[in-house]
Amino acid sequence: MADTVPLTVVDGDDEATIEVERGANLRGVLLERGYPVYGTVSKHANCGGRGLCATCTVEVDPAPEPTHWHDAAAVRFGYPRLSCCLTVTEPLTVRLLDKYVWGQLLPSRSWD
Ligand code: FES
Repeated sequence: MADTVPLTVVDGDDEATIEVERGANLRGVLLERGYPVYGTVSKHANCGGRGLCATCTVEVDPAPEPTHWHDAAAVRFGYPRLSCCLTVTEPLTVRLLDKYVWGQLLPSRSWD
C-alpha cells in the first residue's frame, strides 16, 4: 500500500491534485498548503481542529464515514463535513467553500 494518496482540491475554478501522506488530517493538509479553509474571522478564531466550532467545513467525495460526533451530526443533517475530523486514507476530492466572516456559506455551495 502506498504511503501517499492523491487529494484533489477544488477551489472555485481552480483544481489541483496533490499527494498527501495516507492518514493525514484533512484540515492540517489544507492549511499546510495554504488553502482557505476558514472565513475571515474564523481563520483566527477557531477551535484548533477539535471538532467544536464547525468553521472548517468542506465538501468531500467520496464522503468517508464520520468518526467524530460533530461530523456525524453534519452528515445526519446534510451539512458540509468538518475537515478537522476527516482523515485522508484513500483518493479524495475536496471542494473548498466560500464563507462569510465566521463560517457561514455563500449561496452556491453544492457540487454541480
Ligand atoms: S476547526 Fe473547529 S470544528 Fe474543525
